[in-house]
Order: sequence, then structure tokens, then C-alpha cells
Amino acid sequence: MRSLFPVTDLTRTAPDPSGPPIDREWSLDELADAYAYPPALRADGAGTPWLRANMVSTLDGAAQHDGRSQGISCAADMRIFGTLRGLADVVIAGAETVRLEGYRPARAREAFAARRAAAGQGPAPAVAVVTGSMDLDFSLPLFTEPLVPTLVVTGAGAPSDRIAAARKAGAEVVIAGEGGRVDPARVVRELADRGLTRQLTEGGPRLLGQFVAAGVLDELCLTVSPMLTAGDAQRIAGGPGVAVPERFFLASLLEEAGFLFTRYRRTDR
Ligand SMILES: NC(=O)c1ccc[n+]([C@@H]2O[C@H](COP(=O)([O-])OP(=O)(O)OC[C@H]3O[C@@H](n4cnc5c(N)ncnc54)[C@H](OP(=O)(O)O)[C@@H]3O)[C@@H](O)[C@H]2O)c1
Repeated sequence: MRSLFPVTDLTRTAPDPSGPPIDREWSLDELADAYAYPPALRADGAGTPWLRANMVSTLDGAAQHDGRSQGISCAADMRIFGTLRGLADVVIAGAETVRLEGYRPARAREAFAARRAAAGQGPAPAVAVVTGSMDLDFSLPLFTEPLVPTLVVTGAGAPSDRIAAARKAGAEVVIAGEGGRVDPARVVRELADRGLTRQLTEGGPRLLGQFVAAGVLDELCLTVSPMLTAGDAQRIAGGPGVAVPERFFLASLLEEAGFLFTRYRRTDR
């Protein structure tokens, strides 16, 4: 792993800061430093959400292969995936990703324990599943065995028997929309109101597209996988487009084995 941008300040142990970037495996601690959330904008740190997305795409824009993202990922991508979870208060995922990727509760990992304790975070992030149908298997460990209760984010018109089933399994039901739909901007606010301000969405594309269209995405961590797949796979963000493309700013760029780990932010601050 080496930092291509910025060249110097992510390669802390470089003997010569003006020299070439170091190419070696980064520790989880170094990755966590590189991907730290920005300091809270409010002095008390409360209520100021930062929504980051983590996605992987092939060179030709496919966000999955054979219905999953694993085939276009790599070991370094999974280390960054784990690091981003290790820094987050909450992992937000669309129900289809949860169903297809077989989501389990987030783990408490020793590598991030001290950092999380110092930041006032619990041992692992909560998982928040966005669903209108509530068509989820509430007997799965994601709902029955998490370290922190899983959140089920749905609309006010969600089926009451499914809401009861979610609660019975131990999940917290969050209403963030009218009828059967969830309002993406309200998801961010509702989670922040619960103290979950360091937010990480892992997609999928239909959910991410709505965060983009609602103008609430602060940061995109996009892995560019050196693969071509053709076909009709989804892009990383789908659904109705925005009227005017929004410009993001490159915050960092890492590379390993031809995979590019980009990080773009809404602001250049
Ligand atoms: N490349 C990557 O980084 C990446 C990341 C994640 C996933 N993926 C891939 O993407 C695919 C799945 O993604 P997807 O885009 O099809 O689905 P998705 O965004 O994961 O989930 C869509 C589902 O989320 C719920 N949902 C989304 N927006 C909602 C709203 N406004 N109100 C209520 N419910 C809402 C609905 O659930 P209900 O149907 O329950 O109502 C909807 O069917 C999989 O192939 C996965 O492997 C790739």
C-alpha cells in the first residue's frame, strides 16, 4: 500500500518526505489515522453528522459481479472496509444488500478498541438497515446477536406485525419517512439524534443514489478495482439523477496491486 496523494503526510515513516511513497502493508492503526472522521463541527461534538460511503467499482463502473461485490474486491479493500467500520458509529445499508450479502453484526475488534473508547464509542458500530417492506429475517444473528442493537429504518406505514417482529428480535425500529418510504435526509438526522454522527453507508447503489440525490453525502471512499466486466451490473449509485452534477474534492489516494483507494469529500476544507 502506498499513498499517491498526499504523497508525504500519510507515509509517516518515510525517511525522506520528498522521496517516493513507501510501498508496504499499512497497519490497521495507520489506516485508521488516514481515514479518521473530521472533528465534529459543533463544540460539544453532538448532533453533527458526517455521512461517508464506502463502495467498490470496476474500471467500467460495475458495482457487483454475480450479484455480489466480493468478486471485484481484494484483501486490501477488505482491510479498508474493516477500518471504516472500526471508525463508524453506525453502518447504514439498504435491505437488498443486507439480504444478498448476508449481513452479520459488526464485530468488536481489538485493533480499534482503544481508539473507540477514547472517542466515546461502543465496542462496535450499530448496523442500520433501510427497508420499506420490512421483508427481513429477524431470526438472523444480525438482529438477535449484535453487540449493539441493530436499527431497522423504515417508513411510518410499515406493516405493524413486521415492526413488532423486529422489536421482539431486539432491533430498534426508527421511523424516518411517511407511508412506506424512507426519506434519506431524515435517516441521517434520526441517526444523529441518537448520537450516531459518524455514519458509514455501504450502499447498495439504490440507497446510495438517494443519499446523493438528497445532497447529504459528505464523503465517498471509492475503491477502483482494476477489472473490466462489461454486462449490465449496477453502478455504485442509481435512481433518479441530480439536476446539476456535484463537484467533490480528492482527499486522499492510496494504491495497492493496481487497486486505487480514493477518498473524495464534498468540501475542500
Ligand atoms: N460495489 C459496492 O460497493 C456494493 C456495495 C453494496 C452493495 N452492492 C451490491 O449491490 C446490490 C444490492 O444493491 P441495491 O441497490 O439493489 O439495493 P440496496 O440499495 O442495498 O437496497 C435496496 C432496498 O433498500 C430499501 N430501501 C432503499 N431505499 C429506500 C427508501 N427510500 N425507502 C424504503 N426502503 C428503501 C428497500 O428495501 P425493501 O425491499 O426491504 O423495501 C430496497 O429494496 C447487490 O448486488 C450488492 O452486492 C455493491
